[in-house]
Amino acid sequence: MTGGAGYIGSHTVYALLDRGDRVVVLDNLSTGVRAQVGTGAAFFQGDVADSALVNKIITDQQVDTVIHFAGSIVVPESVADPLAYYDNNVVKTRTLIQTVVEAGIKNFIFSSTATVYAEDAPQPLHEEAPRAPISPYARSKLMTEWMLEDVSRAHGLRYAILRYFNVAGADPQGRTGQSNPNATHLIKRAAMVALGRLPQLDIFGTDYPTPDGTGVRDYIHVTDLAAAHLLALDALRGGAGSTTYNVGYGRGLSVRQVVDAVEKVTGKPLPARVGPRRAGDPPTLISDPGRIKAALGWKPGHDGIDEIISSAIAWEKRFNR
Ligand code: UD1
Repeated sequence: MTGGAGYIGSHTVYALLDRGDRVVVLDNLSTGVRAQVGTGAAFFQGDVADSALVNKIITDQQVDTVIHFAGSIVVPESVADPLAYYDNNVVKTRTLIQTVVEAGIKNFIFSSTATVYAEDAPQPLHEEAPRAPISPYARSKLMTEWMLEDVSRAHGLRYAILRYFNVAGADPQGRTGQSNPNATHLIKRAAMVALGRLPQLDIFGTDYPTPDGTGVRDYIHVTDLAAAHLLALDALRGGAGSTTYNVGYGRGLSVRQVVDAVEKVTGKPLPARVGPRRAGDPPTLISDPGRIKAALGWKPGHDGIDEIISSAIAWEKRFNR
């Protein structure tokens, strides 16, 4: 697994260890935290584009599947520095895929994004909805999807591409969570404001074509997302063909609805300030999760927004004492 010290990766490591799987993590610790990699997983610090290292790990550890989480994820950062995003997310992933193919790996699971879809695509978004990403981040993810499709046709590598909607919350057992103090995620930042670690929440734009004018997203608990990876892994190991899946709940919440939910969970008003739109943000992203439910039997288990928010706040308290 690449990026196993990161937010989603570390939850997936625990989910795999909890059911007794063997896990090998490669992470350069640029944003990941070593202490959040579950004990029991083998850990290597290094770069996904270091072919010699990756090849050695695959051979020594007898890896049969690569789950590729490592990558840069901040939309506005990608708008400001697109070349860094194309390097980290596309160029390095190309090298990783080459190493993986040459090593004879059969299965590849890739973290893609709901932001690959066209802004005017019908909501909820089906996997076959038109793609027209607007940020360099989202384009870098779609480019990698294309690489995987081409490589799968040419070399027989089988993939599961998971298009994540808005991932939030933390491990219900409190073992890991979102630890990047510079994280830009709405629920992470709202949790920081709720604990007094940030003076107020900025609401980015109130003039979107949405019911209350603020951005609408399909917030999904990271534990349910980790479970989706295990199902995709089992399907590939069982011989399933290459498939792309949305991972979201199929319900949209606006920024204002999230603020209201945080206030309900904490019982206190959440200081918020209305500001302009943020570059690269689409108005609405809601998933049609029909395919992953039907094909993999994925069932959300933590989809209450209150549970998502309270787990995020609990982690924030624990992590940043
Ligand atoms: C997130 C992910 C992205 C993923 C996408 C899928 C990160 C950093 N971004 O992007 O990788 O592809 O979901 O849907 O993980 N907002 C505010 N104030 C804030 C922060 C956010 O108003 O302080 C608003 C945004 O304008 C947006 C919504 O809240 O409408 C969600 O923003 P955010 O949590 O940053 O996620 P996305 O940009 O959707």
